[in-house]
Amino acid sequence: KDKFANIRQALANGGPPGRFLSFALANYERRLKQESLKKLPEAKGDVRKIVGQPFFVPLFTLFRTYGGIFRLSFGPKSFVIVSDPTITKRILKDNAKSYSKGILAEILEFVMGTGLIPADGEIWRVRRRAIVPSLHKKFVTAMLSLFGDSTIRLCDKLDTAASNGDDVEMEGLFSRLTLDVIGKAVFNYDFDSLSNETGIVEAVYVTLREAEDRSVGIFPYWKIPILAAIDPRQRRVAKALKVVNDTLDSLIDKCKQIVEEEDDEFHEEYISERDPSILHFLLASGDEVTSKQLRDDLMTMLIAGHETSAAVLTWTFYLLSMNPSVTAKLQREVDAVLGDRAPTIDDMKKLQYTTNIINESMRLYPQPPVLIRRTMEDDMLGPYLVKEGEDLFISVWNLHRSPLLWENADAFQPERWDTYSAAEASQAFRYIPFGGGPRKCVGDVFATYEVVTALAMLARRFNFELAAGAPPVSMTTGATIHTTNGLHMTVTHRTRAPVIPVTDVPSLTTVDENGVIKS
Ligand code: HEM
Repeated sequence: KDKFANIRQALANGGPPGRFLSFALANYERRLKQESLKKLPEAKGDVRKIVGQPFFVPLFTLFRTYGGIFRLSFGPKSFVIVSDPTITKRILKDNAKSYSKGILAEILEFVMGTGLIPADGEIWRVRRRAIVPSLHKKFVTAMLSLFGDSTIRLCDKLDTAASNGDDVEMEGLFSRLTLDVIGKAVFNYDFDSLSNETGIVEAVYVTLREAEDRSVGIFPYWKIPILAAIDPRQRRVAKALKVVNDTLDSLIDKCKQIVEEEDDEFHEEYISERDPSILHFLLASGDEVTSKQLRDDLMTMLIAGHETSAAVLTWTFYLLSMNPSVTAKLQREVDAVLGDRAPTIDDMKKLQYTTNIINESMRLYPQPPVLIRRTMEDDMLGPYLVKEGEDLFISVWNLHRSPLLWENADAFQPERWDTYSAAEASQAFRYIPFGGGPRKCVGDVFATYEVVTALAMLARRFNFELAAGAPPVSMTTGATIHTTNGLHMTVTHRTRAPVIPVTDVPSLTTVDENGVIKS
């Protein structure tokens, strides 16, 4: 491995001149090594080609041309784009300590501070150790009734629309469903956003939209204090952020008081009957944390657990609307397992096809479609040396749609998960809807149960079709994949089991250069 090691050692023992020669030899070796390294394939980007379409779509074309790792340069700025499972595993797992969240932490700082998603180093280690235990098995099981109750509220809304013959915009409704769920689960606050649009709910949305816009914005004008102070939009954001922060601060204070008054004994699977939230667990555990850090963590979970789950549901319903035979099979499973009940923890294992649909939807529409990292020290990625300070995008979209890794990669085939488990695919880093390694999502089981519950209960009660005359469904990027104009659907009551012949013909979905999905 180090063919000069013995010579260097011998020289080093030869007094000052020997030590000098040993040092020179080491430098020579380093140069030799660098010269023998391959240069990263380089794609020169034209910003104009990327603007106006979701940026992960052209990255797929470049991946097919330049391979699993390449550099994409725009003038002086460059990114390393990774679409290879072995290199992804090195970055996320085997050498995770050499990577930070880079640009992502800079963008999200204004809203998440040093919350778990942007945090790195010691703060991340300490907070991860405190937060992971709060999502224990008993907590997630207790959340099932919250998922069921919140979905029933959505069903009530859809009932009215179905009776009146009104079309519904499902992306917005899913966003509200998941906001209600995450508010209750994380800090026991009922946003009731399905019926309430103003005040705190509006403030949350202004804050979230800003975080998303900053993630995809080209010019970071908010960094210039004078512009941020006079721009009406930035002033609105600052006001909204204050409303959200004040609400979180008062929830933290209230919860602290309750915890001090109660004399429950804390244990590993502790759960307060009165308030089973993550916040209550953290305070009862005696977690020594400043109120600001706690607020950053709550805000992080609010954002992390909200738009992601909503986006998964949105694209699942879109895919189902294109695949009636899958919907029919789903409804047969739900009819047999649930009838009109909300699911219990035992049902989760039985709702296998429903879970496969969610797995397949997260493969085709991963949320977020790229993961962001920065090298904190030089690293070898495959045969390439990547220097400290490089910004990397791991394209989950490319991994999940790579024809090198998947048969019929673009087809929506939930059946593929009958024989290939999602856990096995995740271990191979070819399927990473929740990331991987030490920074894997802390809410993966929670979120899976949440979306499986919503899908099962909605499919049991209603039929959904794309609304006639609605704009075509196309993609746009924020932190997650959104539709450009909403997911407009016609919803009808399921009075009896639909009679659709079940022929599982895979439908091919492709995406054109404008991000419009074709089937
Ligand atoms: C991290 C996806 C729901 C909390 C992540 C990551 C992904 C992800 C891909 C890794 C990010 C990276 O490595 O850069 C999802 C999806 C969800 C979901 C697809 C829904 C379907 C949730 C929920 C919560 C949550 C419900 C909270 C209860 C977090 C946190 C992290 C994270 C705190 C950061 C973990 C760390 O850095 O140590 N999520 N997530 N997520 N997620 Fe989720």
